[in-house]
Amino acid sequence: MSAEHRIKELRQKLNYFNHKYYVEAAPVVSDYEFDTMLRELQDLEALHPEMADPNSPTMRVGSDLTNKFRSISHAYPMLSLSNTYSLEELHEWIGKVRAEVGDDVEFCCELKFDGSAISLTYEGDSLHHAVTRGDGTRGDEVTENIRTIGHVPLVLQQPSGLPSFEVRGEVYMSYPTFDRLNAEREAAGEQLFANPRNAAAGTLKLQQSQVVAKRELQFVPYQVEGQQLPFASHSESMESLRKWGFPVSDAMRKCLSEQEIDNYIEYWDKQRHEFPTPIDGVVIKVNSYADRRKMGRTSKAPKWAVAYKFKAEQALTRLLEVSYQVGRTGAITPVANLDAVHLAGTTVKRATLHNADQIAALDLRVGDMVYVEKGGEIIPKVTGVELSCRAEDSQPLQYITHCPECGTELVRYEGEAKHYCPNQSHCRPQIVGRIIHFIRRKAMNIESLGEETVELLYDNRLIADMADLYDLRAEQLAVLPRLGEKSAANIIQSIRSSKEVPFHRVLFALGIRFVGETTAKYLAEHFHSMDAVMAATREELIEAEEVGEKIADAIIDYFADEHNRSIVERLRKAGLQFEAEQRQTVSESLAGLTFVISGSFADHSRDELKALIEAHGGKNLAAVSGNTSYLLAGDKIGPAKLQKATKLGVKIISEQEFVDMIGGEDHPVVEPAKEPEQQPTAPVQGSLF
Ligand code: IVH
Repeated sequence: MSAEHRIKELRQKLNYFNHKYYVEAAPVVSDYEFDTMLRELQDLEALHPEMADPNSPTMRVGSDLTNKFRSISHAYPMLSLSNTYSLEELHEWIGKVRAEVGDDVEFCCELKFDGSAISLTYEGDSLHHAVTRGDGTRGDEVTENIRTIGHVPLVLQQPSGLPSFEVRGEVYMSYPTFDRLNAEREAAGEQLFANPRNAAAGTLKLQQSQVVAKRELQFVPYQVEGQQLPFASHSESMESLRKWGFPVSDAMRKCLSEQEIDNYIEYWDKQRHEFPTPIDGVVIKVNSYADRRKMGRTSKAPKWAVAYKFKAEQALTRLLEVSYQVGRTGAITPVANLDAVHLAGTTVKRATLHNADQIAALDLRVGDMVYVEKGGEIIPKVTGVELSCRAEDSQPLQYITHCPECGTELVRYEGEAKHYCPNQSHCRPQIVGRIIHFIRRKAMNIESLGEETVELLYDNRLIADMADLYDLRAEQLAVLPRLGEKSAANIIQSIRSSKEVPFHRVLFALGIRFVGETTAKYLAEHFHSMDAVMAATREELIEAEEVGEKIADAIIDYFADEHNRSIVERLRKAGLQFEAEQRQTVSESLAGLTFVISGSFADHSRDELKALIEAHGGKNLAAVSGNTSYLLAGDKIGPAKLQKATKLGVKIISEQEFVDMIGGEDHPVVEPAKEPEQQPTAPVQGSLF
């Protein structure tokens, strides 16, 4: 494979992983796999500067912006950390630091807490606001949620003597809290959090701070930012934070030699298994601020700090049997059933095997001793076989040829790693799985129904597909085991309320292959109605943002199916939203004009700019062409785009010029902070007469 090809492939994969990790809080690969791929991309990009791209995953810190919170710019960028899994590389870094600032440099070793980064701004010694990392430049304001965390001082215990400063740290969930939360969710039939990190990130973004309060998040500080800070070193800053009432970690140690640093790492690599706080490594920082200034930073990370990350934990156990699960799309997932083994604080009996290729690549055989890994996710995976333990008479594993649920012969689509059961309309787990997807919170939000009840309704022939939900009556539900009149009435009520769920979520709820939440949003924005999506040709579908051939084909296939069409028609009759709400147009000042946005901007996110363009009657395009009226160029815009725009005579404008075009920012996307309440004027003394 050519380097160019590989760079593109890596970027595409890493962008996808980033999206799953940051936006959906549902990671699909381990940190180790992600970091290894990112490293490969960084190396390739260094060798091929002609392939530079401002949108490469190597250029960004990741984003967790959502629409729900007001977004605020960080006064100081929230950087990431360079990381390594190897002591050798760590020692190289130490060597570089010594060469730059001197042999007697002092380091601080700390734990790398595995949660969500937060920046707390204090003004007049009181918490003013709390902002997530977002894209590093601006993040979401989540002050109300942060206030619920007992460890965060709302007012300092001692005066700081500073007009304002920022404390950065990690919001995390301890393992005991995480286990309790997941146990509660399991009992309620809710989706489980994959790991404490996702639970913390998801909780921070909740709309109701009362719910946040019950989740018992914790906070630990690791950095202070501000003007004229009265500290000469990191350790001094942490001592002050401790006095001011912050829960500074006791695990921090000053170290001078490689040996001390190695010992610290070794100690915590073992100790972490007994530790209630999730940690995924150790951070080694230069202590002196003067030394830090000498070292400087790159656009992404400081050069004065590095994270040493722990490798995923492994265990060796016996493979007893391979079973096969059928998902809602018919995809078959092989599952390893294992001799129970203790791994990272839990007992593991099952692990995912992904697909037939992986089984073949591992040459896995029943009876083998296998390595199981848990890379920060709930579901462990089999990563290797200990061949020295293999029985002489063991036989290669035969992958199934027929569906374990309905007996239909399995198929393998071109370019797909998984086998599929093609019997979509009569294979029980597929039908039930689609209905469960339909009721999910992010789809129709009928979660009060629960997965078990869906199975119960299906097995009792009360529903055969999702459209049947809308014909259910409370008295049919009330007689089912475990359901009383009250919960039956609740379910019927939430089914009724789901008729108000906006169109893009209805589209997502249908469960069309590859049409996730984001794609459904783009489709709804582009086509505005179910009828338009259904009538669209392959070429027209591809014109929508993020829709490629694979997704277009899946949509065409879905609506070509008679059974699906009849479900859609019954959903229409039931009164679901089949049309997108009209966007409010503020003016027509950009009518007839098309824009391409590129780079990063000081005052708006790209989505905000897109929304402004549409609100003023303009149109957004993905790529520069002869039809583009303006290229709205931000920082770090790619040279190729600029060149193309110049060649085609497309006008290039700045963020300010754009704001001027729409007549200034008369309706800011970021709401201004509330003015303090007017103080009542003091009564005039002695004016009784
Ligand atoms: S220092 C400019 N110290 O790791 C450097 N970060 O991968 C600021 N993290 O975004 C970070 N524990 O959320 C620092 N002891 C620690 C940390 C830590 C966890 C997180 C933090 C950061 C991420 C970078």
